[in-house]
Amino acid sequence: AMAEKAGYKHFMLKEIYEQPQAITNTLSGRINAETGEVSIPELNLQGADFDKIDRIFLVACGTSWHAALVAKYWIEKYANIPVDVDIASEFRYRHLLINERVMTIAISQSGETADTLAGIRIAKKMGSKVVTICNVVGSTMTRESDGTVYTHAGPEIGVASTKAFTAQLAALFLFTIYVAQQKKTISKEKGVELGRALIGISSVIEKELPRIQDQISRLIESFYDARDFLFVGRGLSFPIALEGALKLKEISYIHAEGYASGELKHGPIALIDKDMPILALVPQDDVYQKSISNVEEIKARLGRLILIGTEGDTHLQNITDDIIYMPNVHEDMNPIMYTIPAQLLSYEIATRRGCDVDQPRNLAKSVTVE
Ligand code: G6P
Repeated sequence: AMAEKAGYKHFMLKEIYEQPQAITNTLSGRINAETGEVSIPELNLQGADFDKIDRIFLVACGTSWHAALVAKYWIEKYANIPVDVDIASEFRYRHLLINERVMTIAISQSGETADTLAGIRIAKKMGSKVVTICNVVGSTMTRESDGTVYTHAGPEIGVASTKAFTAQLAALFLFTIYVAQQKKTISKEKGVELGRALIGISSVIEKELPRIQDQISRLIESFYDARDFLFVGRGLSFPIALEGALKLKEISYIHAEGYASGELKHGPIALIDKDMPILALVPQDDVYQKSISNVEEIKARLGRLILIGTEGDTHLQNITDDIIYMPNVHEDMNPIMYTIPAQLLSYEIATRRGCDVDQPRNLAKSVTVE
């Protein structure tokens, strides 16, 4: 089994380290670095098709749902189409307002998750165009969709999704650029800028991974025995806070919650004391100042803060000693970049606690029954 793990102790760690390759494979042949032009042949949709779409539903479960939450920000910002994000088990049983002018996009690593599959079947019956973002060629969802965007993350063995998630983010950003180009809602220059940012993120992650793991493995010595954990972020970092909390719950069995930083004052701030670790994602993006004020409120209540922020942001040192710095990447690439420390924090804490990270209790890799 060691051979299958290519020298890594766990599939999860191997898959975390495979992310640069998974992203590169997902983008391969699909972006022209000179012109920024994106092509996604298996999507089966172009130009005029998008003029007929005035709303998008993103439907998914688990980690894939977090990818959908990130994609909402991107699609609304660049493709100018309103996006609703639904958990598939909710979507399939609510009163849906769907017609031919709605596009429904399933996001699924396996392409077999029962609730997500049921969701696209319903949407299709109501006249919606259906697209699946999927990692498994020929899976049920891809067979039942009008179009597909494949992620090429390769087989994912660890139950906790890692490389499939960042490959989904890459595919969803690719999809966003494509739709924006087809609808002409971004300039040619913007297309080049976004395309290059996306292509460039793999090598940055590749270079930074060992350093991030090394820093996190030392940092967790004072946090691994926590009973609860809060993850907070705003804007594009909010879904990554949710994903960080999910990873930690799944593999370490620590109770963890993800929150939008601005919502802390509406409840969770009551939980904060000197024993409560809070991991805050604070990249220098367009909501940075707001995130910092939220973090300062936590500090005032003596929470044990871990900050993940931008290299060179010396202000963070006034707040806590526990900081992991990320390179300054294009702001739309922050969700991909900041996922890396969130995954590694869970991995390091779980292994430190002696948990079986590849086969956590009660969880299945693919949930094909309701
Ligand atoms: C299970 C897995 C998760 C995954 C979710 C959705 O709960 O343990 O890792 O995110 O299913 O799976 P899908 O294949 O549809 O992305």
